[in-house]
Amino acid sequence: MTTIATALTARLREIDRCALEAHFLSLGGEDRRLRFGSSISEDGLREYVARIDFEHDGIFGVHDDEMELLAVIHVAFSDDSAELGLSVVPEARGMGLGSALLVRAMTHLRNRGTPEVFVHCLTENGAMMHLAHKHGMRIIPAGDETDARLAIDPPDAHSLFAEWLNDSHASAVQRLRRNARFSRALLGIFAPAR
Ligand SMILES: CC(C)(COP(=O)(O)OP(=O)(O)OC[C@H]1O[C@@H](n2cnc3c(N)ncnc32)[C@H](O)[C@@H]1OP(=O)(O)O)[C@@H](O)C(=O)NCCC(=O)NCCS
Repeated sequence: MTTIATALTARLREIDRCALEAHFLSLGGEDRRLRFGSSISEDGLREYVARIDFEHDGIFGVHDDEMELLAVIHVAFSDDSAELGLSVVPEARGMGLGSALLVRAMTHLRNRGTPEVFVHCLTENGAMMHLAHKHGMRIIPAGDETDARLAIDPPDAHSLFAEWLNDSHASAVQRLRRNARFSRALLGIFAPAR
């Protein structure tokens, strides 16, 4: 299981669409309600994933060694701001993955000159409210639903370098994990039967 010490956030691409769908389908009904603000069926989730534009939006994830997605953040741009949607599988919660993805999303937005980010969630969502507050977001409750907002600084050399370093590291680890998975599959095929 991945821990915060090894949590590596990788930008997801077209090749990850199936894994992304599997991640959302693995969430239980209550988690889907918290993530999307209302109940959503399996078909609804499939449609949501099918509509994602990986080039326009930023989708980042944390994988385990089998390249399954433990955690995902969707950065959806709208005019001069961007909305974040975050989900972590229950077994991997409380290990800092949500926090790591929030930081990664904010760096992405900063380096693209986006001035503001927000999260829209249910007011009952204690974990998300805690995370938003911890990352300096302004909490604006409105009944059952709450917005958390944050103004984002313009990019600087440090933010650009941090993103480059993170992505280079993530690509290298992704390659190793895919190769290791391929080797294990080959071993499974060619291992002599006992
Ligand atoms: C919200 C969510 C993404 C958090 O992911 P995570 O990986 O557990 O987040 P982290 O481990 O980085 O941090 C969780 C923090 O919330 C705290 N927390 C957990 N449950 C809490 C609760 N009910 N009330 C207040 N704080 C809570 C933890 O103690 C931890 O605090 P710390 O970092 O100060 O120690 C995850 O619970 C989830 O996927 N929930 C279902 C979907 C959802 O609600 N998405 C958000 C709507 S966009």
